[in-house]
Amino acid sequence: MTVRLEPWGEGDLPLLEKLLGDPEMTVHLGGPESAEKLAERQVKYERLPESGTGRMFKIVDDETSEAVGSVGYWDKTWREQEVYETGWSVLPAFQGRGIAVEATSQVIARAKSDGQHRYLHAFPSVDNAPSNAICRKLGFTLLGAHDFEYPPGNTMQCNDWRLDLRADA
Ligand SMILES: CC(C)(COP(=O)(O)OP(=O)(O)OC[C@H]1O[C@@H](n2cnc3c(N)ncnc32)[C@H](O)[C@@H]1OP(=O)(O)O)[C@@H](O)C(=O)NCCC(=O)NCCS
Repeated sequence: MTVRLEPWGEGDLPLLEKLLGDPEMTVHLGGPESAEKLAERQVKYERLPESGTGRMFKIVDDETSEAVGSVGYWDKTWREQEVYETGWSVLPAFQGRGIAVEATSQVIARAKSDGQHRYLHAFPSVDNAPSNAICRKLGFTLLGAHDFEYPPGNTMQCNDWRLDLRADA
């Protein structure tokens, strides 16, 4: 199965609900978000391109045009440096087929051509084996683990993975 990225659109709240409103899907993300939070996030994703602070995409099956997940990048201040952060999510029925790796490699190409920041970071939970595998496979360097409070009130340990977008491929 091959996938492409499409800009996050007005009709994509149901996809967001399946990704971030679901208990199974958010085991490593501090649990499901409320309906209110998801609606806020939907607006934020729609407005990202005009804000110039990042991009969010839906991952779409090339053949059927069915939406199977999300991936994106956005600005973050990390250790007093302006960087991009990335994150991904693939619906359970489509997991284990290399879709997250393929979609993330496409988002890396877009972040590279956007070119505002040199570094792209990912912060998967230390327990999130597939996400840590994705970072390793796509050439990120593991810088170490940190405690994060996300969402507020929930502490989790996450790895800091960094990719140099300006390094020679
Ligand atoms: C993380 C997630 C996006 C992975 O999606 P996916 O499309 O199934 O991932 P891929 O098929 O591209 O596989 C990624 C790698 O993880 C590996 N992997 C999958 N499950 C694994 C496991 N339980 N243990 C170790 N490695 C695992 C795969 O083998 C693959 O590595 P490989 O290509 O070297 O074999 C998906 O599980 C998900 O959406 N989880 C819930 C949301 C989430 O946690 N998002 C991440 C926030 S950082």
